[in-house]
Amino acid sequence: MKIKISIVRALCVFFGFVAGAAASETVFVPSNPPEMKPLGGHHTPAYATAKLFRHGVNLGNYLEVPPGQKWGVTVSTEEFGQMKREGFDHVRVPVGWHHYAGPAPNFTLSPEIFSRVDFIVTNALANKLAVMINIHHFNELDRDPAGSTEEFLALWKQIAAHYKNFPPLLAFELDNEPHENATTTLMNPIYARAIAVIRETNPRRTLFVEPGGWGSIDELKNLVLPPDDNVIVSVHCYEPFHFTHQGAGWTTTDVQQTGIIFPGPPAQPLVPDPKLNPKPWVRDWIQKYNTLPTAQNPSSALAFTDKLKYVHAWSDFYGRPVHLGEFGAYTKADPQSRANFYAAMRRAAEQEKLGWAIWDWSANFRYWDPPNHCALPGMHAALFGKTN
Ligand code: BGC
Repeated sequence: MKIKISIVRALCVFFGFVAGAAASETVFVPSNPPEMKPLGGHHTPAYATAKLFRHGVNLGNYLEVPPGQKWGVTVSTEEFGQMKREGFDHVRVPVGWHHYAGPAPNFTLSPEIFSRVDFIVTNALANKLAVMINIHHFNELDRDPAGSTEEFLALWKQIAAHYKNFPPLLAFELDNEPHENATTTLMNPIYARAIAVIRETNPRRTLFVEPGGWGSIDELKNLVLPPDDNVIVSVHCYEPFHFTHQGAGWTTTDVQQTGIIFPGPPAQPLVPDPKLNPKPWVRDWIQKYNTLPTAQNPSSALAFTDKLKYVHAWSDFYGRPVHLGEFGAYTKADPQSRANFYAAMRRAAEQEKLGWAIWDWSANFRYWDPPNHCALPGMHAALFGKTN
């Protein structure tokens, strides 16, 4: 399932890249549906909370994992102090609540998942980290948004009631990376209903909302939000995908070529592995990567700079803070290139006044090296601009 989904995501990202490249020459024009009303100024509760969610880390491959499976991540209480000492101010916690829901119509959540999430949330808060919990990998919602809406609302009703007295440093993100049939247009009214449900018990809680197309920047233009002034928009960006997902087994065969550095071009041209039988567009990408100078190379900041500029302009126009909720590079890339990449994306996000959260803490895109209780080489300096 994960493999199939990721193939679609990779294609979306690829076509998004092409569209993004074409859009880079154009000036920002607000083009959301007229129902999306700009909120004036930068003085809303959402902007106040955005200041607490500047430099974050995703606790990936942990609480979103289906029961009975392990994706190699364990978390100790000490790690929250380590996150804080590294310089992170928040942690994004993917949660697979739907795996723990009983049958319709109540979809009652088991106490087990609440106690596991409570452990993470209370430890994060005890270390003065802001924390965002979401619903992650709710595949049924992506496949059948209308048929899963009641469950989605029932989950949020219970989660919101459980956390209603928690401090404002806890935020909720409604749904991770809607995609497939969960288009932005279809999700807009579902989000509005979920926000209304949450507001019954949490009138002042900050909420995060992602557009469709896997939280795509190119989908911001289809977002329609209610006039609630405590909603932050969140987008994901894994460009340049050939670099960030090289060799990632859960995604398309088109990114199985490894040995791609950041930034390009490489000192010696990369010869595509014939066993991978690369498609013409992959060969074309590699050829540009081999030959173009860094400023024009597809494995460089060029792949995301204009996208983040657009986000900034969109955000300012609509009066909605935007958070970059996921970016990162798989550990199959070489350590120096990974550090270069995280530094470049972090700088670009900060240039555009976007809070960010890296994917991920200690899984397959990791920052942290749990056995050695330290950051991987180069990663601290990449994100915080100085060595630890
Ligand atoms: C998914 C992870 C995946 C990562 C990078 C996240 O949104 O939840 O499973 O490793 O993206 O592809």
